[in-house]
Amino acid sequence: MTVLRILSDGRFHSGSSVGETLGISRAAVWKTVQKLQQEWQVKINAVSGRGYQLATPLELLDKGAIVAAIQPQYRDQLPELHILSSVDSTNRYALDQVMKGSATGLAVLAEHQTAGRGRRGRNWVSPFGRNLYLSLVWKFELDARHLSGLSLAIAVAILRALVKLDIEGVGLKWPNDVLWQEKKLGGVLLEMRGEANGPWLIVIGIGMNVNMEAVDANAIDQPWVDLQTIQGRHIDRNLLAGVLLDELIQAVSSFQQSGLASFLSEWREHDICLNCPVALHFPNRVQQGIARGIDADGALLLETDGIITPYHAGEVSLRVSPHGR
Ligand code: BTN
Repeated sequence: MTVLRILSDGRFHSGSSVGETLGISRAAVWKTVQKLQQEWQVKINAVSGRGYQLATPLELLDKGAIVAAIQPQYRDQLPELHILSSVDSTNRYALDQVMKGSATGLAVLAEHQTAGRGRRGRNWVSPFGRNLYLSLVWKFELDARHLSGLSLAIAVAILRALVKLDIEGVGLKWPNDVLWQEKKLGGVLLEMRGEANGPWLIVIGIGMNVNMEAVDANAIDQPWVDLQTIQGRHIDRNLLAGVLLDELIQAVSSFQQSGLASFLSEWREHDICLNCPVALHFPNRVQQGIARGIDADGALLLETDGIITPYHAGEVSLRVSPHGR
């Protein structure tokens, strides 16, 4: 039991009652509250005569609840599940565990990231206790050429998890952005270690906006949305984490067996850029064209001057809203 767990019910708790429960002094409780506020940016009201109260109740990550949401036949494939209060980046932590000998099936979830990594060197805004920050380590016996479609398969796994939770209307933007009404709901960052011919240890990092507070989102530099806004109710992060892990395990096993084939039709069905004018950004140039979907390897098909070319890298931006066509 921690101070935060006691406060997580959203009620007032006096310093002395918290101290008594935990067997620590009131001063130690106060110190912990300071740390929660300053280091993890948890918003806590301190009212003299009443005690401490979270500004909004938090549902903390709970290993038992997460595992319970994974189908029994897939639980064995997750030998390690680490739940952290705060970490720089769950991907960095997972890569570190790989260097220390952890292999396939290590999953890491954190309440808070101080240096969450986004694609293309961006920062992933990661306030405490609101969203999902998840990394899964998986070993693939494939050569690098065959790995290019993996990020699309992961996007489909996320989509399947959301559909299972009755969240509809989610779209995908190549290669693996998860959007809702053109606003970013989640993203995927794959980081890998291995030799050219494999095997590869891949860290699949997923960030999903769940119950974001507007004040925490000030630092996000693009239109965003969270599941709470889409559904109009608070979303159970433990259920979401479990269902997501369940779908991820199925997806990585299927990808290892048969590549992207079983993901293509769903990816195409949810492709928000299909037949839209887009710009494909590279570090030194931008290629304009019309997005014509993806090929069997997951490459983006871009039509320019009547010629369709497959692209395996780059960052897509829509030039015209698909709703405005
Ligand atoms: C993107 O830019 O779209 C990808 C964002 C990926 C963020 C997640 S949060 C969990 C994992 N740990 C990180 O540091 N990044 C990924």
